[in-house]
Amino acid sequence: MLANSDFNFKSPKGFFVVDGVNGAGKSTVLRRLEELLRKRGTAFLLTREPGGTSLGTSLRTILLSSTEPLTPLAELFLFSADRTTHVHSKILPALRSGTAVLSDRYHYSTTAFQGYGRGLDLETIHTINEAACGGLAPDGVLLLDLPVEEGLRRAAARRDGQDNFESEDIAFHERIRQGFLTIAAQRSEPFFVVDARAPVEVVCAQCAAIVERWIAAWEKELHHE
Ligand SMILES: Nc1ncnc2c1ncn2[C@@H]1O[C@H](COP(=O)(O)OP(=O)(O)OP(=O)(O)O)[C@@H](O)[C@H]1O
Ligand SMILES: [Mg+2]
Repeated sequence: MLANSDFNFKSPKGFFVVDGVNGAGKSTVLRRLEELLRKRGTAFLLTREPGGTSLGTSLRTILLSSTEPLTPLAELFLFSADRTTHVHSKILPALRSGTAVLSDRYHYSTTAFQGYGRGLDLETIHTINEAACGGLAPDGVLLLDLPVEEGLRRAAARRDGQDNFESEDIAFHERIRQGFLTIAAQRSEPFFVVDARAPVEVVCAQCAAIVERWIAAWEKELHHE
């Protein structure tokens, strides 16, 4: 863990994000976190971008599998259309009803992929991200960090077919990895950078420790309202 491992969550709103390069282990960690929250009896929504809504499912297919090349701006707008639908129709209603939300990716991925990866202007992306999310920032972000070759190797070994991003060259993925680390250093919400080269059990235990602390703080906040 690179930073903030003894961080205390203040006034959490119930929203947490797992993000990082392709094949880093986000889905694996989220499955473990799902078990943890279920055992705890916490009401939660596990969701993902792109694809957390029915519009998102269609957009996900276009974004990850389109045979027609998309321009970087088209990618930005489609991911943002997915995100604003996701935030307004799923995340915010869940938070309002006292349900915790864990999301597999958030706008950090857009900054990393379309900004650092594709080279779109970062200020423009920031403005669009803020508009799409209505400024909703999570209580914390687990950033799974991994050398890009290892992430691509893991994703390829899963044998579920390469998506349009996984078939890009190593330099593209390296810009994304460095982009995520820059975002983690610059944003004001807490980022927990986890070394995802470690064995699954170690990575999951580190992530679970952070999420346990977050959920305990959030439940305390709920009961004080
Ligand atoms: N710490 C780990 N060590 C070794 N293998 C791992 C580790 N974590 C996950 N894996 C394996 O690597 C593959 C990719 O993991 P996973 O699907 O969780 O990554 P992801 O970040 O969700 O990928 P994507 O970006 O494509 O959604 C899976 O086969 C998973 O079992
Ligand atoms: Mg995944």
